[in-house]
Amino acid sequence: MPTVRFIREGRDVKCEVGENLREVALKEGLQLYGLKGVLGNCGGCGQCITCFVSVEGGGKDSLSPLTEVENAKLSNRPKNWRLSCQCLVKSSLVVLTKPQAPPPNSKALIQAALGKDLPT
Ligand code: FES
Repeated sequence: MPTVRFIREGRDVKCEVGENLREVALKEGLQLYGLKGVLGNCGGCGQCITCFVSVEGGGKDSLSPLTEVENAKLSNRPKNWRLSCQCLVKSSLVVLTKPQAPPPNSKALIQAALGKDLPT
């Protein structure tokens, strides 16, 4: 069972292989969205571009490959950003929600998250 480590929230969440990353977060009551996404998001259809996460750790194949939607919508974003609604979890990984508005201590939080063993 993979574990998704949510850096900002300080939570490790177990999920099934193949589970949608957005659904994993929402099921746990985590807030994926900034204000724009809270006010209106597409419900996971890949249209609103508000469900960003940055992948900070895990295997390079921890998530399903970029979808056509992501290739189109993320072309001007950092290479480690994904649209959570487009991602299926394949193995354990470490993510930062809302990377467009990182917490002030994000570097330290990321280092701390990467410093702990990640359950597989
Ligand atoms: S929820 Fe709208 S793009 Fe992911």
